[in-house]
Amino acid sequence: MSRKILVTSALPYANGAIHIGHLLEYIQTDIWVRFQKMRGHECWYVCADDTHGTSIMLRAEAEGITPEALIDRTYGEHVRDFSGFCIGFDNYYTTHSPETKEFAEQIYGRLLEAGLIEKRPVEQFFDPVKEMFLPDRFIKGECPKCGAKDRYGDNCEVCGAAYSPTELINPYSAISGAKPELRESEHYFFKLSDPRCEAFLRRYTAPENGVLQSEAANKMREWLGQEGESLLSDWDISRDAPYFGFEIPNAPGKFFYVWLDAPIGYMGSFKNLCAKIGLDFDEYFKPDSATELYHFIGKDILYFHALFWPAELANANFRTPCKICVHGFLTVDGVKMSKSRGTFITAESYLAEGLNPEWLRYYFAGKLSNSLEDIDLNLEDFVARVNSDLIGKYINIASRAAGFIVKRFDGELSAADSSLPAFQAIQEAAPRIAEFFENREFSKAMREIMALSDIANQYVDSVKPWELARQAGAEALLHQSCSHAINLFRLLTILLKPVLPALAEQVEAFLKIDPLLWRDVDSLLPAGHVIAPYQHLMTRIDPKQISALIEANRESAPAPASAAASLPTEKTASEMVGIEDFLKVDLRIARIAEAHPVEGADKLVRLVLDIGEEKPRQVFAGIKSAYDPAALTGRLTVMVANLLPRKMKFGLSEGMVLAASGGDESGIYLLSPDDGAMPGMRVK
Ligand code: MSP
Ligand code: ZN
Repeated sequence: MSRKILVTSALPYANGAIHIGHLLEYIQTDIWVRFQKMRGHECWYVCADDTHGTSIMLRAEAEGITPEALIDRTYGEHVRDFSGFCIGFDNYYTTHSPETKEFAEQIYGRLLEAGLIEKRPVEQFFDPVKEMFLPDRFIKGECPKCGAKDRYGDNCEVCGAAYSPTELINPYSAISGAKPELRESEHYFFKLSDPRCEAFLRRYTAPENGVLQSEAANKMREWLGQEGESLLSDWDISRDAPYFGFEIPNAPGKFFYVWLDAPIGYMGSFKNLCAKIGLDFDEYFKPDSATELYHFIGKDILYFHALFWPAELANANFRTPCKICVHGFLTVDGVKMSKSRGTFITAESYLAEGLNPEWLRYYFAGKLSNSLEDIDLNLEDFVARVNSDLIGKYINIASRAAGFIVKRFDGELSAADSSLPAFQAIQEAAPRIAEFFENREFSKAMREIMALSDIANQYVDSVKPWELARQAGAEALLHQSCSHAINLFRLLTILLKPVLPALAEQVEAFLKIDPLLWRDVDSLLPAGHVIAPYQHLMTRIDPKQISALIEANRESAPAPASAAASLPTEKTASEMVGIEDFLKVDLRIARIAEAHPVEGADKLVRLVLDIGEEKPRQVFAGIKSAYDPAALTGRLTVMVANLLPRKMKFGLSEGMVLAASGGDESGIYLLSPDDGAMPGMRVK
């Protein structure tokens, strides 16, 4: 039965470049959409730039342009990047649109009518120089818990404390530097705490309703609490002028908070598509719609999509999403993308370095599953996987057979034997693979497809066309085995097409066939079908391309205080040590079990270190200027375990912890091992 499905990805902010973290989401969604289209379903994929809010307003101001000019420019960049990675949106729009404005007003109006909007005064920091209320992110000060300086308004990255901006010590505006004043202003709230919302959300997010993956449903239960516990608080949906956004009807100087109109942008983009191609918007958005609505998002924005958004829709007489598909975050080589490491890789730089976008699409597909777990792009594995799977297994099948077909048989295929076990293996696996695509278990699909490619290669290895080509009288056998190989290649291309759409298009041209659909997997090319001369379909990744990409994205660290002190220099032999000497130093992973200030020594911290020995070590470290002792407890670092103990005024120091520093002003940075290291492990 044919389905009607509307699919969205989260709307990227219009003040930043698309990077590979974003691409994880758009590639995941695009693969799913392409799969649905190949299955013959009516499936629409819409998205837009998320254009409103303080950040965009200030960014435009800093560049000396209007917000409209900024979002126009970003729009062009985003469209370019997405099309570079074959993201096949049916419509890519903007939230700064008449459609989105109209829906925002309509939804707000209906919530108002339903008694779900409330006005109340809010006390908030105001920048007297800039004359605006400050969002939490734009207030800085000293952490009320650990005293660290220059912390943001809502949480401290040094000690991990969460607080409200009014608790900061010596707060200042991150925009003007001025001391903010507390001022009162009227705000509009969406009453999420209303029993109607709560009752609806309990039903809607219940595991048996199937909207959420189980991990997300668990999160939801945490947020909702027990029946009757009412943990939900009302949601502040207004912001005061100056603000770049939509003004709230009948509330001069008050604007919708960007997160109110952002998801409404999904509707705006779809409405815009409907007008362009003559679709019925209401069929998709009426409360009892038989169509499906899927949102793909990252785990950081689950709260907005699973609580506020469905509650708004349900109470404004629109349909609610069928599935909210949540993915984890992308890491590179096991850690967060980082500008200094060069792993904050932009879509633009990837394409500019001449890397093939389908390499990344394939790699992501090989990693994606229906879970919220983070996904790692391991650069070495990336090269190995693409080269061995795509080139070594899949492309190899065509490149070993196509030449003979063209040179010896004028490009004409012979009849294929449909009982060939390799054909049957693929055809038998196809429904299972379809199921994997449907359930967003792409990694399982890729694994099966590669196993089938192995079977296809084993077939080619067993018939050895290159030997047949040299044998007299083996003409018919050569013809048939190469035709089989071409047919195997076609079947595998069908299965990979959602992931590799551009390559599939090249294959369709090479095989001179219509665009492949999923059902084509049940048929083979007929005898006499003529194919085009084989042209190279895909190259291997050269690891040098990856190093160049990383270099292109590396943002150089600020110049060290003293260049001579921190730059590596050529060493004379007398300054060098042999490995034996180095190994005399016993370096161990240590867990900081306790950390205390030392009375009478303001530079020192007393550490109690666990290195897997029976009795923990006591070490005095001169790191007080950089670290709050309370924040150190529990973390791992590296210690010298065989340093001669030293008696100090405050007690015995039984070792030393390792820290980096580049001179007086540049600070002290305690070393930490990667995840997985355990106390007591040897470092060498
Ligand atoms: N504008 C909001 C979304 C509004 S949707 C109505 C936003 N934008 S974003 O640009 O920050 O992120 C867009 C999407 O990309 C989000 O789903 C986010 O989770 C995802 N990702 C951003 N960085 C990511 C990674 N490093 N890894 C995986 N996904 C990432 O949030
Ligand atoms: Zn702190």
